[in-house]
Amino acid sequence: MGLETLSITDSRTGKKYEIPIHDGAIRAADLRQIKVSQDDFGLMSYDPAFTNTASCISRITYIDGDQGILRYRGYPIEQLAEESTFLETAYLILYGELPDEEQLAEWTRNIIHHTIPHENIKKFIDGFHHDAHPMGILISTVAALSTFYPDARQIHHAESRRRQTYRLIAKMPTLAAFAYRHMIGMPYAYPDNDLSYPGNFLNMLFRMTELKYKPHPTLERAIDVLFILHADHEQNCSANAMRNVGSSLVDVYSASAAATAALYGPLHGGANEAVLRMLKEIGSMDHVPAYVKRVKAGEERLMGFGHRVYKNYDPRAKVIKRLADEVFEVTGRNPLLDVALEVERIALQDDYFIQRKLYPNVDFYTGLIYQAMALPPDMFPVLFAIPRTAGWIAQWEEMLQDSEQKIARPRQIYKGAGIRDYVPIEKRKVKAQA
Ligand code: CMC
Repeated sequence: MGLETLSITDSRTGKKYEIPIHDGAIRAADLRQIKVSQDDFGLMSYDPAFTNTASCISRITYIDGDQGILRYRGYPIEQLAEESTFLETAYLILYGELPDEEQLAEWTRNIIHHTIPHENIKKFIDGFHHDAHPMGILISTVAALSTFYPDARQIHHAESRRRQTYRLIAKMPTLAAFAYRHMIGMPYAYPDNDLSYPGNFLNMLFRMTELKYKPHPTLERAIDVLFILHADHEQNCSANAMRNVGSSLVDVYSASAAATAALYGPLHGGANEAVLRMLKEIGSMDHVPAYVKRVKAGEERLMGFGHRVYKNYDPRAKVIKRLADEVFEVTGRNPLLDVALEVERIALQDDYFIQRKLYPNVDFYTGLIYQAMALPPDMFPVLFAIPRTAGWIAQWEEMLQDSEQKIARPRQIYKGAGIRDYVPIEKRKVKAQA
């Protein structure tokens, strides 16, 4: 097929333009040639919240929101959740291919080697108030890592980037677990590098006085699967923050702190925490219809429902629903599960949700699993941030390698006041009226 184009006739001038189409998109910069006069800036596209703007070309994660498909580097999420481990999946996301045995062993060795943070990290975690939200602690400590590793500023050196990747993926569970131990007033538990990545995380969360913590294999595997499911999700709010902040060429820790902050919000990674609070507020199955009525009246949002991209069941939610049963066999059934199932049942047959294609997303059932594992809701977004770090770093790497990328800097449509002269304070209207 020849070059595909979009034919545009500007009704202001009558001029015609042929705008090339590549990969189902036009380049917004091609619109700039459309002008009403020589000194006109040129036509822009207006897209608040980037609902129809591709900001990059990516080869990491594929989503088909209508079909409910999610793949990392071409591999279906269901297969990875069934067959892979988080560390192997992180390698795949970062380097593009599944590792062979030797590569996986070396990757794992490098991660294990970097799990212990500098002792000073503990000192400033100590400085946080006893009820500080662990996500606030995590954002701050991730940012602080840049002060311990000034070599991270060498972002154009592949070896430096590789080193920071090991450090960040290795230290996220440690920082997260330290934030949790601070929150509950327990001494920090150090990493045990004999354990797997998720097993060690459980060890740092829950070890008491025992000499050797032994994670329950079902819970260890459940954490691993949840980490796989959360590892990347293409250009979401936090990945966009990572690329955006990273495009200023700041170090990876500072950019990751920005991404972690983006994840904290209740419309993004904070939704799992919000779901649990919502289910608690609903309280019992017979209160569900009244709550759904309030949602439909616009008084509430059904947290854990809806997605910018998925207009079908989130494939991650399907895996998590099955995983919940395995976890509850060990921990006992979370009584809020019945409320959640009833919310899903009622919502999925209600016109409001059907018309808007609102389905349970990844956050709808995760909180129930984490709570069954004895973790408080404040920790839920933290558990999201740990695995998503792999995705953030992959997105950052891809952005740095992309010769088309520059510092991210959107345009605006200015509708504020025109030029006016400064008014001395005694002559201002507000004072005159007083
Ligand atoms: N409950 C009730 N109504 C909803 C919901 C919801 N959860 N989500 C969307 N809607 C309605 C919304 O009111 C709008 O209705 P109308 O057309 O009448 O104005 C319509 O559906 C379209 O919604 P939108 O807000 O334009 O959709 P969006 O793409 O901007 O927002 C979302 C996506 C995920 C922020 C939103 O669905 C939401 O707030 N969900 C609840 C929070 C949540 O679960 N977030 C986790 C997302 S998945 C994990 C992650 O990315 O971190």
